[in-house]
This record gives sequence, structure tokens and C-alpha cells, in this order.
Amino acid sequence: MKLVVKIGGSLLLDKEGNIKVAEIREIAKNIELLLKEGHEIVIVVGGGTEARKYITAMRALGASEGYCDDIGIRISRCNARLLISALKGLVHPIPPRTFEEALQAFSTRRIVVLGGLIPGQSTNAVAAIVAELIGANILINVTDVDGVYTDDPYKNPDAKKFDEITTTQFYELINKPDANNAGKYELFDFLALKIIERSKIYTHFISGKNPENIVKVVKGEKIGTRIVF
Ligand code: UTP
Repeated sequence: MKLVVKIGGSLLLDKEGNIKVAEIREIAKNIELLLKEGHEIVIVVGGGTEARKYITAMRALGASEGYCDDIGIRISRCNARLLISALKGLVHPIPPRTFEEALQAFSTRRIVVLGGLIPGQSTNAVAAIVAELIGANILINVTDVDGVYTDDPYKNPDAKKFDEITTTQFYELINKPDANNAGKYELFDFLALKIIERSKIYTHFISGKNPENIVKVVKGEKIGTRIVF
């Protein structure tokens, strides 16, 4: 199968900004298992706490939103290189900077790892567009939460998890006024959802706290939350 795996920055960096070396190694091991099973894989990596730190400081210093986006993109590419380091010889060595470069790298049949590409969106949108471009069988969104909830489960203990969610329900959840500012989106963004909806991309949200979940969901285990059409 063709797989796109979006790895949230929270799985690579902790809240203090420390790099989670052991956890990155575990994620890489599970990705390698999928490669050995013959899957073709693109991984998109988020900016995490490091990107938010820079974006917050630069915005306070007067930078434009586009300038803040650009630093988010650069930092997500640094995060991509963390995973590239863990995957060693099985991987395209440089994070692609355009969709064209991503497609070229994908055609070598190595694992491709990239961060952000274009200001005004998130790495979730990158993952959705790449999934559309390569005709991915599945898009797996891996974060530190085990699915999509009615509200932020870390802030609201009454939040309920969806096993399945329609795109209409999802639009309602993410319809927040500042959702499109640099570094601001929480769970997902409109562009990503629009791409998933228009191309009916089979999308799953799972927790990466146990990276074996990535292999489980590819094998068809019903974990996390899936988008239904
Ligand atoms: P993300 O939004 O993807 O990282 O990129 P995040 O907020 O840390 O999300 P997760 O949890 O790791 O997945 C960080 C910032 O980089 C800019 C945006 O400002 C975004 O908020 N960015 C990223 C872009 O402008 N374009 C891109 O293609 C990707």
C-alpha cells in the first residue's frame, strides 16, 4: 500500500523542547517494519514546541504571519531530519521543499520524510495533499492523543472520543476564529480536511505514544478515530 504518516511534533519534542531520542527511534523501527512489508511510505513531520516557541517570540517582536509560517516550515524540516537520522539508509536523505521534490523522492521507493512546504497552512495539509498526489491508500495522523474528541481531552475531562467522524462533524469541531494563524491550529485545519473530503482519503487519527499503533492501523485494527464519508 501507499501510506502517508503524519507525525505530530509532540511525539518528537517534549513540552520543554527536549528532543525525544528514544521515542523517535521506536517510531523509526515501526516505519521500517512497514517498509519491509513492502509498503511505500511518506512521512510528514510537524513543528512541535520548537516551532511554537519561535513563532510566539517572532510574533511578539512584530514579524508578519507569513514570516512566522516560514520559521515553522524551517523547524518542521529540522524535525524531519531527526526521523531521517533514525531511518538511516532506507530513507531519502533530504526533506523535500516542494511537492515536485516530494514526488521525485517518492519515485525512488525510499521512505520520504518532509516537513512544511508553503506558508498559510499546516503540515496536516501537506500530508493530505501528498496523500492525494501519490494516491495513498491511507493517511495516518499520529499525535499524543488517541483519536478525535468532542473537545481537547487534556483540558476537558468530559470530552468524548469519536470512533468515526464525518467531515461535516469535523468542520464544526475545528471552526475556531484564529485557527489559521501561524502555529495556532490545534487538531487539524480546514485545508487538510477539504483535501481529504474532495478525494475521499481514508484517514485515521491514532496515538503514537505506542508507535506499534502505526503498524496496527495499517493491518486494519480498529483503533483511534477514522473519517467516514
Ligand atoms: P504544524 O502546524 O504542522 O506543526 O507546523 P504543529 O503546530 O507543531 O503541529 P503538530 O502537532 O506538530 O502536528 C508549524 C507551523 O509551521 C507553519 C505554520 O505556521 C504552522 O502552524 N507551516 C507548516 C506552514 O506555514 N506551512 C506548512 O506547509 C507547514
